[in-house]
Amino acid sequence: MQALVYYGPYDVRVTEMPDATIEQPGDVLVKITTTNICGSDLHMYEGRTDMQKGRILGHENLGEVVEVGSAVVQIKVGDIVCMPFNIGCGHCRNCETGYTGFCTTMNPGTAGAAYGFAGMGPYPGGQAEYLRVPHGDFNCLKLPEDAKEKENDYVMLSDIFPTGYHATELAGVMPGDSVVIYGAGPVGLMAAHSAALKGAGKIMVVDNHKDRLKLAEEFGAIPIDFSKAPAVEQVLELTNGLGADKGCECVGYQCCDKHGAEHSNVTMNELVQAVKATGKIGVVGVFVPKDPKSKDPLQKKGHMDFDFGSFWMKGQSIATGQANVKSYNRQLCTLISLGKATPSKIISHEISLEEAPNAYDHFDKRDKGWTKVILKPGKTKSSVKKSSSIAKAGK
Ligand SMILES: NC(=O)c1ccc[n+]([C@@H]2O[C@H](COP(=O)([O-])OP(=O)(O)OC[C@H]3O[C@@H](n4cnc5c(N)ncnc54)[C@H](O)[C@@H]3O)[C@@H](O)[C@H]2O)c1
Ligand SMILES: [Zn+2]
Ligand SMILES: [Zn+2]
Repeated sequence: MQALVYYGPYDVRVTEMPDATIEQPGDVLVKITTTNICGSDLHMYEGRTDMQKGRILGHENLGEVVEVGSAVVQIKVGDIVCMPFNIGCGHCRNCETGYTGFCTTMNPGTAGAAYGFAGMGPYPGGQAEYLRVPHGDFNCLKLPEDAKEKENDYVMLSDIFPTGYHATELAGVMPGDSVVIYGAGPVGLMAAHSAALKGAGKIMVVDNHKDRLKLAEEFGAIPIDFSKAPAVEQVLELTNGLGADKGCECVGYQCCDKHGAEHSNVTMNELVQAVKATGKIGVVGVFVPKDPKSKDPLQKKGHMDFDFGSFWMKGQSIATGQANVKSYNRQLCTLISLGKATPSKIISHEISLEEAPNAYDHFDKRDKGWTKVILKPGKTKSSVKKSSSIAKAGK
């Protein structure tokens, strides 16, 4: 099968790889029809993880079931399914209690497994024609009747929509709350969408990319451009000098200062200032336990210069971690089906698998207009162009 393979920093290629197959009785084999490039893929693309060369990337996957193992009872051939990026076993203590992002059996020695991901088990990714889904009954969300029609919305259930929602859950966003969200990438935009769905009163999204901030506005947020004036000042001005009730970190360890220089503590320290005393901060942006390629000696060890004193004085709290996608994907699926949520709004590029390496380059540079790339394995360059222009004309 054709698949997008990691060859080393800034080098991904579409090559022929062995077909994915059923290996265990609980497996499901999915023919991938849509798979996304994620901000998390970029940490690997840039060589900022210990991702092994030769592995297939891709953890945001949707497709049609083409084969099921002998122990699979619920999922059937022909079902259209979306897979959470986390792989759970369904029977460990964490999975049983809803923490499927921290499954203790699928990647022994650590908690949490995923497709095509550094440090999260040996599982191949889905930026390919086929994907093996372990424990298929547990890890496939069967999509409703309108699966094909709304495929570009439903594929966001694999990661960024539940992850954005998770940021608002970790921050405890309630109706009427003011919320400041750092990052207007796909995850930050989905946090803004989720906050709006929860009835937040005022949503402020911080970034310096105008195209992304414009999308944030479309989801009902106030854009905060940190290249114009310090973000904290702007947020305090909008919140009577008190700070927002809740804060979401949707950038991660590669966050930058206004000069574009990486400092892993920028967003966390700004959140402490931009969130009110006793406010909660939800952190879904990825932070890593070691980052040898960083120029900062603290960050090399996965540490940061964090303003703990102010954080403590303000009596704030922080919650962090991978999103437990299965805790939210069914409910968010219903909102898409009812037309109340439209995560596909952030898609900027719908392209074939063969065009993926070029898309990685543009998305990684945060080139203007490259907000979210979705790939259509099994389709040629020209057939994807044709179908996406028909879909756009129908909007
Ligand atoms: N916890 C999870 O389960 C989970 C799931 C998916 C993604 N993630 C992580 O979420 C993060 C965001 O993902 P994404 O796909 O939106 O990535 P992205 O890289 O496309 O977006 C990040 C955005 O943050 C902005 N940014 C950089 N420095 C900033 C600063 N100081 N202040 C405000 N904004 C700043 C960038 O301009 C960019 O638009 C990544 O770290 C990704 O790995 C976590
Ligand atoms: Zn992702
Ligand atoms: Zn488990």
